[in-house]
Amino acid sequence: MKPRFKKTHGVIERGEVMKAFSFSQRLKKFPPYLFAEIDKKKEQLRKRKVNFIDLSIGDPDIPAPRSVIETLYKTAKIKVNQKYSLDQGKIELRRSIKSWFKRRFEVDLDEDKQILPLIGSKEGLVHLPLAFVNKDDYVIVPSPGYPGYRNAARFCEANIYNLPLLERDNFLPDLSSIPLNIRNKAKIMYLNYPNNPTTALAPLDFLKVLVGFCAKYGIILAYDNAYSEVYFEEKPHSVLEVKGAEEVVLEFHSFSKTFCMTGFRLGWACGNEDLLAGLLKVKTNIDSGIFGAIQEAGRRALDNEDKYLDKLRKILKERRDIFVEGLKAAGFQDIYSRSTFYVWAKIPASFKSSIDYAHHLLTKKNIIATPGIGFGKDGEGFIRFALTVDKNKLRRVFSKPLF
Ligand SMILES: Cc1ncc(COP(=O)(O)O)c(C=O)c1O
Repeated sequence: MKPRFKKTHGVIERGEVMKAFSFSQRLKKFPPYLFAEIDKKKEQLRKRKVNFIDLSIGDPDIPAPRSVIETLYKTAKIKVNQKYSLDQGKIELRRSIKSWFKRRFEVDLDEDKQILPLIGSKEGLVHLPLAFVNKDDYVIVPSPGYPGYRNAARFCEANIYNLPLLERDNFLPDLSSIPLNIRNKAKIMYLNYPNNPTTALAPLDFLKVLVGFCAKYGIILAYDNAYSEVYFEEKPHSVLEVKGAEEVVLEFHSFSKTFCMTGFRLGWACGNEDLLAGLLKVKTNIDSGIFGAIQEAGRRALDNEDKYLDKLRKILKERRDIFVEGLKAAGFQDIYSRSTFYVWAKIPASFKSSIDYAHHLLTKKNIIATPGIGFGKDGEGFIRFALTVDKNKLRRVFSKPLF
């Protein structure tokens, strides 16, 4: 390719042009990040002073627990927390994670070898392949699925294998559909239950089969459990409840959705010791630990805020019930809302595509929702609503027909 040239602003004395910067081949393959695109649309609406209802991004409107914010404030004043922190996270935080995990899932984790705090779960999920995936290896990602998994594979120039999550299978993957050559070449399989965007849960029987499958083919199972505490009728599992799972699994957890701490940036990975060592090696070369006061705030949440979680689930359940009733009355037919704070619904038959319908909601109803195609090809035909606004606003969604 011929180099492109651009005018400079006087930094080069002789000659008026210099070679333009261009993205790496790797980065050129990244599609625009779904939520960054939606953010641009929101900004345009704000500029036009349009009063819209934002049901697009999974950033809960509910404040983090008060005691957590107070801990953050108090511990930010302590000098040691203002310095570089340990890459492996504070031992006190790892111990809190260990006891929370034991209390919640009846699983014992070694705080020195099997737990690694993260700067949010996305950070760990996206860095993991850098430790284990080579160019042209395969990474298996769910479709529909959280966009971070695909982009993690793209950073390593790996091939992406889309594993469909279909309505007829309760949005669980059909592992037998994965061709043998892909099974043999795949290094990582990402899966996520409670599932964003479909809201599906994974039964323990399925998790057992999944662990067996990954062990048989030597595939790392990156199990994203970011929504483990956002449930209603059925309590989600940890895949580490499955006997022997620690041989092949890294499970990811997040404070973002559990304690509405999205801005704090805190999560953790746990499970296989060697996998954690690889992830830690990558992280040590990229970041320099998590702000100590945020780690203290996270400890406080895990140790003392079980009641907050009960209250959170109550608020979200009420919202979910209002919203699902509203959708039914509005004529929607296939509506999924088993867990998380999302509702996943089939778009009305009169619309050609999920983008078409999202566009209709945005331009005609001032409602921002996420088109299913944004989560992968198998998300087409669906729309995702994030119930991250209060119940009165949610009721307003139904003040006019939705299609
Ligand atoms: C399925 C899933 N995994 C991971 C994340 C990232 O969460 P965190 O804030 O912990 O990075 C999100 C955020 O929306 C998510 O939906």
